[in-house]
Amino acid sequence: MHKKVVLLPGDGIGLEVIHAAKDVLEAIASQFNHTFEFETHLIGGSAIDTEGTPLPDHTVEACQRADAVLLGAVGGPKWDQLPSHLRPEKGLLGIRKALDLFANLRPIKGFPTLLHASPLKEEVVTGSDLLIVRELTGGLYFGQPSERRDNNQTVVDTLAYTRHEIERIVDKAFQSAQLRRGHLTSVDKANVLESSKLWREVVEEKKINYPDVKVEHLLVDAAAMKLITNPTSFDVIVTENMFGDILSDEASVLTGSLGMLPSASLREDGVGLYEPVHGSAPDIAGQGIANPLAMILSAALMLRHSFGLNEEARRMEEAVEHVLERGYHTRDLHILNGMVVGTEEMTKLVVDFIYSLSSSEVTK
Ligand SMILES: NC(=O)c1ccc[n+]([C@@H]2O[C@H](COP(=O)([O-])OP(=O)(O)OC[C@H]3O[C@@H](n4cnc5c(N)ncnc54)[C@H](O)[C@@H]3O)[C@@H](O)[C@H]2O)c1
Repeated sequence: MHKKVVLLPGDGIGLEVIHAAKDVLEAIASQFNHTFEFETHLIGGSAIDTEGTPLPDHTVEACQRADAVLLGAVGGPKWDQLPSHLRPEKGLLGIRKALDLFANLRPIKGFPTLLHASPLKEEVVTGSDLLIVRELTGGLYFGQPSERRDNNQTVVDTLAYTRHEIERIVDKAFQSAQLRRGHLTSVDKANVLESSKLWREVVEEKKINYPDVKVEHLLVDAAAMKLITNPTSFDVIVTENMFGDILSDEASVLTGSLGMLPSASLREDGVGLYEPVHGSAPDIAGQGIANPLAMILSAALMLRHSFGLNEEARRMEEAVEHVLERGYHTRDLHILNGMVVGTEEMTKLVVDFIYSLSSSEVTK
């Protein structure tokens, strides 16, 4: 398979972790007989410094021609005082919009060696492995422009969804559940909101097309509670934009480390942008100590969701798990009796595992 991948390192540790993902993808390409063609472009603060804009046209054009995009992170104190239209984050929002990325996927998996660092009791989080599918381009954050009326005494934000917007995210969630354990929880507020009633209707209509997926509906308040009392009861959660924003951050603490969480933002044709959940970590940038695993796991999502390379994705995830099980970890993690390594060494350990797969384990 030949695929074009645009790399957007961005700022801070983005540069270090994107290197790591590229090295691991090259190992996968070599072992499984694929070619990944990489092209690097500017975004965020580094683009502001060299081109005066957080999202240069050439970056957008390259991403539009690509099969997938890997993004490190943007931002840092250097650019905090700039006017809002010039902030690094504008580059990120701009590229998501330019590519029409409507589906945000966040897998949250508790790695056994790290669970003791979770703020929840180990017995509660053990075995948690869930995927949040969040609608990303509709709802409250994209309604009519917000309004202040009556001399600041009334404010109005609008929550609008079209049937099409709901259908495409619900389809994506059913398909994701088919690739996993076949259980879908649709989260809404159908006892109050009209948009949630339509959401629930669409899920009910769609489930006929996915007889292998078991569906349940849950109100968002109950879902928030169940996520921390019984996280292992979830497989795939699908929800609208704002509920997804809140629930995905809540769920991200389950694993006990920001440096382990990948994400994918997808378009209808499967083109996607893949990035770690963490930011540019200016406090540790350039020191060679950043945890590259969230970025590597994001690249694994790219293989699975944009290229359909499920076996290769699984091998990358297995490599990460294997390295942690052997006790290696970066400084942000804690493993009992473990060994601290830097970004490059951690990457090499993952790469070495992939090269160690025998020919019978890789289907070329
Ligand atoms: N998607 C993005 O590009 C994105 C997301 C969040 C924040 N940001 C930006 O990043 C900058 C810093 O934000 P922040 O400090 O709130 O969040 P952050 O995620 O960058 O860092 C929070 C803390 O976690 C640590 N950390 C994060 N990722 C790590 C990794 N891979 N390895 C080791 N340690 C890691 C950092 O050192 C820091 O102590 C800000 O400019 C913010 O706007 C960007």
